[in-house]
Amino acid sequence: MEIKKRVVSEAKNLPPLPVIALVMPASTYRASTFLQAAKELQVQTLVVSDVDLVPLGDLADKFLKVDFSDSKEATSKLLEKLSRIRDELGITVGVLAVDDRGVEIANNVAMSMGLKFANPSLGIKATRDKALLRELLSKKGCNQPKWSHISASESYLEIIQKDIGYPVVVKPIDMQGSRGVIKAESNEQLIQAVEVIESLICDKTPTFIAESYLDGSEIALEALLINGEVNVVAIFDKPEPLLGPYFEETLYVTPTLLDQDSQAHIVKEVKRAVEALGLKNGAIHVEVRLVGSKDGFTPYVIDLAARTIGGHCSSIVEFDGDLTLEMALISIALGIEVQGMVPSNDPRGVAMLPISKSGVLIGVSGVKNAERIPDITGVTITVSIGEEVKALPYGDKYIGFAFAKAQSQDLVTTALRAAVDTIVFDID
Ligand SMILES: Nc1ncnc2c1ncn2[C@@H]1O[C@H](COP(=O)(O)OP(=O)(O)O)[C@@H](O)[C@H]1O
Ligand SMILES: [Mg+2]
Repeated sequence: MEIKKRVVSEAKNLPPLPVIALVMPASTYRASTFLQAAKELQVQTLVVSDVDLVPLGDLADKFLKVDFSDSKEATSKLLEKLSRIRDELGITVGVLAVDDRGVEIANNVAMSMGLKFANPSLGIKATRDKALLRELLSKKGCNQPKWSHISASESYLEIIQKDIGYPVVVKPIDMQGSRGVIKAESNEQLIQAVEVIESLICDKTPTFIAESYLDGSEIALEALLINGEVNVVAIFDKPEPLLGPYFEETLYVTPTLLDQDSQAHIVKEVKRAVEALGLKNGAIHVEVRLVGSKDGFTPYVIDLAARTIGGHCSSIVEFDGDLTLEMALISIALGIEVQGMVPSNDPRGVAMLPISKSGVLIGVSGVKNAERIPDITGVTITVSIGEEVKALPYGDKYIGFAFAKAQSQDLVTTALRAAVDTIVFDID
């Protein structure tokens, strides 16, 4: 409560109300939470989107329509608008991408305006380009799988056999949400996997990345960078093993059950990765594989995104008090100090409901029963009846979420597993 008051009062003390530009493609799940957070902070919002009016439009104060496929044009449009607000009206401004698609535009604008929040463009680019990420991490000696950036026109079978071996994970350079990420254990599986990737990237230059498969458990780490300092706000255990051939995310449970030393070991490696990319400010969401036994593991950064956790999962990032992840991030982007970001210790978690097959959603059952499961705090279905859904490796959206809070992490996991089993999607 106190933290919120402080943030609110600091925001209030900046006359007139600051403006945060929120770069949000129409497809985002993150619009309402960010807009709500800005309202809480009494900050004005400039919604930068690829549609005329985003739903929840009444929460936003100003709109700017841009074409995200033309990043140069989008950047200059936003730059002009935001500079005018700052320079002609004397208003404090900030700019944030609410998810992956807007990060480069938001960062380019922040850099051109000389905002403290800006990050080096190469580092930001690396969060959207898996080959560049590996390149920058390798340069700084971070723990890495064997990897190779492959042009599909090359004789990739020989390259992968020689440089990487099986099992191998192949992935498109610039997709998210495990789209096209496939583990192959033989030549035959590899050829099939590359065909899938080619079909996903269709008209673009067919390149992909191949990495040795890292066998181990996986955690996700959520942090807020402030002037280069890594403030960890949550480490999530992923109780369902991700073994491939596809890597569908299901359960996230926090706080992690790993001991303090193990957590410190992970955070150290994440810091090395952040430094390798030169990132200084904003949210990061990092996936780390722990290779070896739980006592003696080596942490490997698999993926590092310059955004908050995706989908509707951010509601399980909690602080003591009323501060939310989005409130903290907006404050950082506006240069308002956020003090006392104390992560909550209450066991909680989310299930990203699995999509068993591709097709048209014709019915959903079991939601009410799932909501009645002890420790389940809510269920959200994010696809409408009649809408098409795709299973991995083609999947590109979430079908729904279940949330839980309990006395222990194990009880959270049990409740979430029961919810996943109870909710049935009828897909034709
Ligand atoms: N080299 C690897 N070894 C083991 N698992 C991997 C490897 N690369 C990716 N994965 C698995 O695939 C998931 C998605 O891969 P990632 O690189 O994070 O792609 P995306 O950007 O689509 O999330 C990871 O969270 C991890 O479970
Ligand atoms: Mg990932």
